[in-house]
Amino acid sequence: MIKERTQKPTRNLALELVRVTEAAALAAGRFFGRGQKNAADKAAVDAMRLLMNTIEMDGKIVIGEGEKDEAPMLYNGELVGNGEPPVLDIAVDPVEGTTLVAKGMPNAIATVAASPRGTMFDPGPLFYMSKIAVGPEAADVIDINAPVRDNLEKIAHAKGMDVGDLTAVILDRPRHSELIREVRECGARIRLIPAGDVAGALMAAWPGTGIDVLLGVGGTPEAVLAACGLRAMRGGFQGKLWPRDEDDRRCAQEAGYDCSRVLTLDDMVSSQDTFFVATGISDGPLLDGVSYSEGFAHTHSLVARGLTRTVREIVAHHHLGTLTELSEIAY
Ligand code: FBP
Repeated sequence: MIKERTQKPTRNLALELVRVTEAAALAAGRFFGRGQKNAADKAAVDAMRLLMNTIEMDGKIVIGEGEKDEAPMLYNGELVGNGEPPVLDIAVDPVEGTTLVAKGMPNAIATVAASPRGTMFDPGPLFYMSKIAVGPEAADVIDINAPVRDNLEKIAHAKGMDVGDLTAVILDRPRHSELIREVRECGARIRLIPAGDVAGALMAAWPGTGIDVLLGVGGTPEAVLAACGLRAMRGGFQGKLWPRDEDDRRCAQEAGYDCSRVLTLDDMVSSQDTFFVATGISDGPLLDGVSYSEGFAHTHSLVARGLTRTVREIVAHHHLGTLTELSEIAY
């Protein structure tokens, strides 16, 4: 019997949110390599807020850039959108990799995620999380508590590859020296990145990047953003809060967090009805950065919807003269 399919297509919010990340990337793109981290961030924040508030949604920023008094950030608790339903949690990173933009380095992105209110993980007081992220083929075989070798062997098997052909992406930090040694001992290749592990996590799930797994400790807010994208792509993720010291450990305990708990994709974002968008600011394996040609700026974005698992790549050509006449954003 043929199954009757009655569900009508519904709104794909990601197609509207992509204008938000495009605007942020275009604004930050003007600061590429200029050594002005904060100015790049401020330009992206302003552009993001302006565009976000044109969208029909009742959004609350739960993964933002800090608290209200630290303006001009998009702060935690800030309401965005025009206040009409749907009622949503919003995660933002107007410039994921501020140093990358300031130094003119690859892999900086502007990113936003949205999911039903109350479904995103609250990072609490802990800034860092240990993470493992992979694509759909290996989503069910990872175990953050297992030795690195076991994970690499299982990922390789799931992908029909040899461990020696795998490439892991890892933030280049002293805290990862042991991890890097272990991965090298297994014979896998490593792409060390100076910053930007949201892009790193997505690379592991997006075809054609040459990356098979993200490993190591990065930001907890970044983990929530990455989880929304991975959930939409049906990738795999596990995380564990990572206290830097005894103070962190005590803060976590007082706030009711268990640092030994393995957080799954479902813990990070508990709804499949999630949206994730990212626009490249600088070139990387995931996205092309903002580029310019006569009269135009060009952007490249990933636009993902969890409900349907549709991921679009959108290349846009922005006519600078016209935008300058119409918009208050300095494109
Ligand atoms: P920015 O705040 O400069 O955008 O840096 C982002 C980032 O590199 C994340 O991608 C990563 O999760 C985190 O910082 C790592 O933190 P740290 O630089 O303290 O190791």
